[in-house]
Amino acid sequence: GELHAASQAQPNIALIKYWGKRDAALNLPVVGSISITLESLWTRTEVRFVPGQKQDRVSLNGRSDEAESKRVTACLDLLRQRAAVDYGADVASRNNFPTAAGLASSASGFAALVHAGTQALGLDLSEAEQSVLARRCSGSAARSIFGGYVEWAHGQRVDGTDSVARPLLAADAWPLRVAVAITSTAAKQVGSSEGMRRTAQTSPFQSAWIDTQEADLATARRAILARDFEALALISEHSCLKMHALAMAAQPGLLYWNGATIECMHRVRALRQQGLPVFFTVDAGPQLKAVCEPSAIERVKAALKDVPGVLDVLDTGLGAGARSISA
Ligand code: DP6
Repeated sequence: GELHAASQAQPNIALIKYWGKRDAALNLPVVGSISITLESLWTRTEVRFVPGQKQDRVSLNGRSDEAESKRVTACLDLLRQRAAVDYGADVASRNNFPTAAGLASSASGFAALVHAGTQALGLDLSEAEQSVLARRCSGSAARSIFGGYVEWAHGQRVDGTDSVARPLLAADAWPLRVAVAITSTAAKQVGSSEGMRRTAQTSPFQSAWIDTQEADLATARRAILARDFEALALISEHSCLKMHALAMAAQPGLLYWNGATIECMHRVRALRQQGLPVFFTVDAGPQLKAVCEPSAIERVKAALKDVPGVLDVLDTGLGAGARSISA
């Protein structure tokens, strides 16, 4: 039949961070991680395999991008292998949020691509199997297959079949909100893969990072299952600052923050001191994500908008995993 499907996936934000690979080819992480999947930011991707077509044709937000096309083709190759199909595909993907702004577009992008590609080829894959495939395309994409609170295990096996994400708690069981402070729209400095490689090779803190991750995961898991906001706030800020300290100690040091990022961190901590349930996290870029109880979202947004250097503040709840949409 028609080898065609369309899917949507949303970005996720790690509260307990993934940083470092035990196998770069298979994208196997040195540590497990825990994330929340967002709701109103999305990637929508349409995939059509065309019998007889040799090459993939990839459009991202209406434009072609050679580096991204290569990653898309590498990801489609994994699906074609599973289906024993060798046709090229037409892929059209768009985001409703700034792609270069370090907002985890690769997580939602590859989760949507794997979901749509699986459907288009009629592959009968479980969500766990889709998570494994998405992981091979971009590590954090393993988590966007699922909604709500998600844990991605580092796994033990060399083939990576146990390095898979699983849901911990549904979004509506603890509907926190997220404000994203955009502090720069410049393309990112050092990409995650290169940053992780440099960190593993040169940071003196790499082994401490690995040795302390299990305890952080256990603390976050407990906090999530108990819906203990204060406990989740403390362990999430700790994991974020520890990941950045690890990366800053690489040579040359990786410095993902700008002045406004740091100012936002202080602002979030001042709000929490005043009793507002809010904490921050920052990934491999200068945007700050503030996670809060629903009652606090308006005050959090207003406070972040007021920080000099903040260009815009997005606002979202927590959402579902990758799913089919009508094309
Ligand atoms: C800082 O998933 O983008 O956002 O596996 O090389 O594609 P690759 O990296 P990527 O790294 C995300 C790093 C992070 C932390 C996190 O999301 O856990």
